[in-house]
Amino acid sequence: MSRTWSTFIQRPQTLYTSRALRFSDARSAEWLAAFGLENPKNILEIGCGPGALCGSLKRWYPDAAVTGLDLDAGFLDYARAHVKGVSFTEGDIASLPFESGSFDAVLSNTVAEHVEPSAFFGEQLRVLRPGGVCVVMSVRYSVERKSHYALRESDLEKDVWERVSKRMAERSEKFGVCRYPMDEAEYPAAMAKFGFRDISVGYVFLSLTPDDPTVSRESAAEMIESFRANDVDSVLMLNDVAPDTVTRGETAELVRQTEKKYAERLAAYDRGEKLWDCANALIMVMRGIK
Ligand SMILES: C[S@@+](CC[C@H](N)C(=O)[O-])C[C@H]1O[C@@H](n2cnc3c(N)ncnc32)[C@H](O)[C@@H]1O
Repeated sequence: MSRTWSTFIQRPQTLYTSRALRFSDARSAEWLAAFGLENPKNILEIGCGPGALCGSLKRWYPDAAVTGLDLDAGFLDYARAHVKGVSFTEGDIASLPFESGSFDAVLSNTVAEHVEPSAFFGEQLRVLRPGGVCVVMSVRYSVERKSHYALRESDLEKDVWERVSKRMAERSEKFGVCRYPMDEAEYPAAMAKFGFRDISVGYVFLSLTPDDPTVSRESAAEMIESFRANDVDSVLMLNDVAPDTVTRGETAELVRQTEKKYAERLAAYDRGEKLWDCANALIMVMRGIK
């Protein structure tokens, strides 16, 4: 049983919040068109993390049985506690614990780059029924701009991030994060090489911009909360990634400073002050048929 990813790389709550925004019901029409699934009876999401996409899939395809699979028990505990109507299973994508031909669709979001490609595509091909659909999503481009509140850096913050930068790089290397990167042409070529046909590639643009006038106050607050959770988690993770480089007292102080910055950012929103901070992403959606 592994808790590596949820301890050292991304925390469950933050990842869940980010993906709940990404796969929100407000964007369901765009995602449903990109997935192109016709009355699926059983859907598998591999590398489901804390389960936000599984929850959306269950709402969007209420008649389908939805299964989420991940290696990380920390994510699965979170998913089981927060996402209802979905079955969550611990397992390795490189050796899926399912019979051949069991699923109408297999989906994944930001997982392909972490798993050896022949296993990643080969196992999905095996567990899909003939005619089943494989959907692979990968972030291609991100545009992030923090507000001046969030950018404000204390001496302690500067000092801590300088001290831990080497440890952060070592962490990604050690846990194989993005060990198998592919570009926009290599991904669909790999899908074909490992046996899929009728491959198509689409792109979905996601904008998290609280000051966008079409965004409600509720959604803007969710976006700011997602930015806050991300920054707070980056600090809290240092307790596990660099325990001999940073003290718990220092991380507690940095969390306090971060909370203050985002309380100020939200107050600015409520005063009507426009800051145009954002976290926007272009997501590649590949689709292939068995
Ligand atoms: C970047 S996270 C994405 C999680 C989720 N798809 C999301 O978008 O929130 C990558 C996920 O893949 C999982 N993962 C990586 N390698 C795996 C493997 N071989 N088998 C199962 N899960 C794996 C990690 O535990 C993690 O949950």
